Amino acid sequence: MQIKFHEESRLFQLDSKNSTYAFQINEGGYLVHLYYGKKLSSLQGLEKNAFRGVYDSLSPQNPYVDDPYFSLDIAPLEFPCNGAGDFRISALSVRGEKGDTVTDMHYVSHRILSGKPGLSGLPAAFGEEGKAQTLEIELTDKVTGVRAFLLYTVFADFDVITRSARLENGGQSPVDLERAYSACLELPGMGFDCIHLHGRWAKENTAVRHPLQHGLQGIQSKRGMTGPNHNPFMALAAQGAGEESGEVYGLNLIYSGNFAIDMEVDDRGVTRVLAGINPADFRWRLEPGEVFTTPEVVLAYSNEGLGGMSRTFHKFYIEHLMRSAWAKKKRPLLINSWEAAFFDFDDEKLVEFAKAAKDLGIEMLVMDDGWFGDRHDDFRALGDWQVNEEKLKGGLQSLIKRVNDLGVSFGIWYEPEMINPDSDLYRAHPDWAVCAPGREKSLSRHQCVLDMTRKDVRDNIFQQMYDVISQNNIEYIKWDCNRHISEAASLSLPPERQGEFFHRYVLGVYDLMDRITTAFPHILLENCSSGGGRFDPGMLYYSPQIWASDNTDAIERLSIQFGASLCYPASSMGAHVSANTRTDISTRAAVAMWGTFGYELDPRLLTEEEKEAVRAQVADYHKYYDLTHYGDLYRLNTPTENPHFCDWMFVSPDKSEALYTRVIMRRPGKVYQVQRLQGLDPDRLYKDEETGEVYAGGVLMQAGLDLSARQWADLGDGTCVVKHFTAQP
Ligand code: GLA
Repeated sequence: MQIKFHEESRLFQLDSKNSTYAFQINEGGYLVHLYYGKKLSSLQGLEKNAFRGVYDSLSPQNPYVDDPYFSLDIAPLEFPCNGAGDFRISALSVRGEKGDTVTDMHYVSHRILSGKPGLSGLPAAFGEEGKAQTLEIELTDKVTGVRAFLLYTVFADFDVITRSARLENGGQSPVDLERAYSACLELPGMGFDCIHLHGRWAKENTAVRHPLQHGLQGIQSKRGMTGPNHNPFMALAAQGAGEESGEVYGLNLIYSGNFAIDMEVDDRGVTRVLAGINPADFRWRLEPGEVFTTPEVVLAYSNEGLGGMSRTFHKFYIEHLMRSAWAKKKRPLLINSWEAAFFDFDDEKLVEFAKAAKDLGIEMLVMDDGWFGDRHDDFRALGDWQVNEEKLKGGLQSLIKRVNDLGVSFGIWYEPEMINPDSDLYRAHPDWAVCAPGREKSLSRHQCVLDMTRKDVRDNIFQQMYDVISQNNIEYIKWDCNRHISEAASLSLPPERQGEFFHRYVLGVYDLMDRITTAFPHILLENCSSGGGRFDPGMLYYSPQIWASDNTDAIERLSIQFGASLCYPASSMGAHVSANTRTDISTRAAVAMWGTFGYELDPRLLTEEEKEAVRAQVADYHKYYDLTHYGDLYRLNTPTENPHFCDWMFVSPDKSEALYTRVIMRRPGKVYQVQRLQGLDPDRLYKDEETGEVYAGGVLMQAGLDLSARQWADLGDGTCVVKHFTAQP
C-alpha cells in the first residue's frame, strides 16, 4: 500500500518508489506537514518536525491548540489559509458574506481510493487501480461553510505525487474565492536553488538557476495563456545538487492559463512554495452548493539530481498524462509548409511538395496557415474556417486525394481561439471578440481573442472545424494560438463574475480541445503558440507533441530544447530541420532528432547532396525512434553553462544501446577534451557502430570518450558528433 494512515498518531504516510511524504492532523484539526524526501523505512520521531523554527511572541497563539507555542504563523502546513494567524502567503482565501477574508480550515474526514479520479473540466494525470492510490481529505471552515477536499495521488512506479483541491460552498450564502492554489510545499529551510524556465518569442524555455532569498519570489503569467515568458515549472534543488546527484523537488502545473508559482522564505529561513492559479485578476463566486476545482500540480522527487527528476517527468507524462493514442504510437515523419511557403501556396505547389517529400521518405504533409477564408496574409480571415478554393482549386478533398495517392498523409493548421476584425465571423458577431465594456481593443498580430468562456462561440468554432475535418481525410492538426489576452472581460458574465474570466477562458479551450479530440480520436494533435508559448502539461494532456519554437536555428534551439527537457519528454518537443543554413544540415538533423523530428523547408530546392543527406536522416529517424522517444535522457553539457559544447545522450531502458550527440557551438581550440558519458552499464562492453571500437561502459563513464582525437580535432563551429553505441553480447 502506498498510502497509510497511522490512527494513533493521526499521521498520513505517502510512499512512492523512493520517496516518503508525511503529514499529521494535529489537535486543532490542522494538517501539519512533516516530511518530503528520500524514502523512510520508519517514521519514529518524525512528529518532532511539526514545529519549524522558534515561536515568536508576535505570532498569534492558536485558539484550537492547547500549546502556547503553537502558531499557524510558524507551522508547516499542507493547505495554509488566509487571515487566522498565518502571515505568510496562503493557498486559500475566501471572502464570506460578512465581507472579511478570514479562512480557517479544519479536518473533518478522509478516505483512501484506489486509482485516481479525474478532475472535472480540467486535464489531469490518470492512473488506474494498482498503478495509483488517492488520498482525499475533507476540511471545513465553520463560518463560511466552505469545504475543501484535498487530493493526493501516489503512483506505484514513479516518484510522483499529484495534488489538487476541490472547493465546495457548503454554506447558505455566496462566497468569493480570492486565492485558490492547488498545493503548498513546505521546505525545511532555504538552502535550495530555484531552477526555472524563462523566455520570450523564439527564445523559449531558457533555464536559469539561482539561490532562494529571504522574502517573496516566484514566477507567473497574467497573459491568459501560459506564455513563453515563464513555464509553469519550478525545480528546487538542494544547494550542491547537480545533473546527476543531489536532492531535487520538481513542480509542474497542469494548467494553460494564468498561473503562479510563489515562494516565500520567512524570517526564520523556512520556505513555503505555492503553485496554482494566479490570484492576480482572479475572483470566483461560489453560490451555495457550487464547486470549484483547482488545476493539478505534479510533484516529482529525485535524489539523482536534475537528470533523475527529468527522467521521472518524461516517463510519467508518457504513461500518465498524454491521453492521446499517439503518446505511444509511432508518429508520422512530417514536412510542414510554413517556412517553405508562408502564405504563398496553392494546390499545385502543395502536391509538388508532397511529391518531393515522398521521394525523400517523408510520410506526411502539413498545410500550415493560409488555406481558409480570404487568408493571404496575417491581417485577415481568422474565424472563417472554410477552404479557400481560389488557392486550393477543386477543394480540399481533391488536394488530399492527390497527396494521399502519392502515399503521403495530410495534416492541417488551425488557430481556433482567434478572430481577425477583417473576417466574416467578426462582421457577424463583433461581440465575440474579447473586450471590456467601453474599451478599445488592442490588436496583436492584427487579431483579437474569441470569447472562449461562451458556449455559443465554442459551438460555432467546433461546428466549423467539424465540417472540414469530418469531410476530409485529415490525420493531423496543428492548433496554434498567436496572441495573449488584453482588455479581458466577457459580455456574458455579470460584473461580480468578471474575475472568473481568465479561468473560464482556459476551461473553454480545454472543452473545445476535448470535443475535437473526442470526435476525431485518430488525429495527431500538435499544439503551438507562436512556437513554444503554451508548452505546458495541460496541453500535453490533449496533444502529445507541441511545436517547441519558431526559432529553427539549430544552435539557438539547443538552449530551448535543453530547457524544455527539464520536464518535457523529447517525444513532445516539435523539432524540424529547416532551411536555416547557419549550420550544416547534419547538425540541424542531430538537433531535431532530440524532438519529434520533421522538416520545415521547400523539398524541391534541396541539392542532390542534401537529398542524400535527408534520406540518410530519415533512415536514422526510424533507426533511433525508440531510443529518442522512450530512452532515458542524460544532459552532459548545458548550452547555457558551457560556451563551447552542448552534449546529450539517450540510453535505452535496458542499457543495450545509446545515442550520444555533441554540437560544437564554438570550438575551443586544440585542447584536450574528454567527455564522460552517463547511464550506461559499467560492466558491459559497448561498440561504437561507426568505428567498430569497443569500450567498457565503465571506461566511457569514468575515463570518458576522448574527443580531442585526430578525426575530431578540426571540427568547426556548428558541426556535430553523433555516436551510436551498442552493447556487445
Ligand atoms: C505561428 C506558428 C508558426 C506558423 C505561423 C502561421 O507563428 O508558431 O509555426 O504556424 O503561426 O501563421
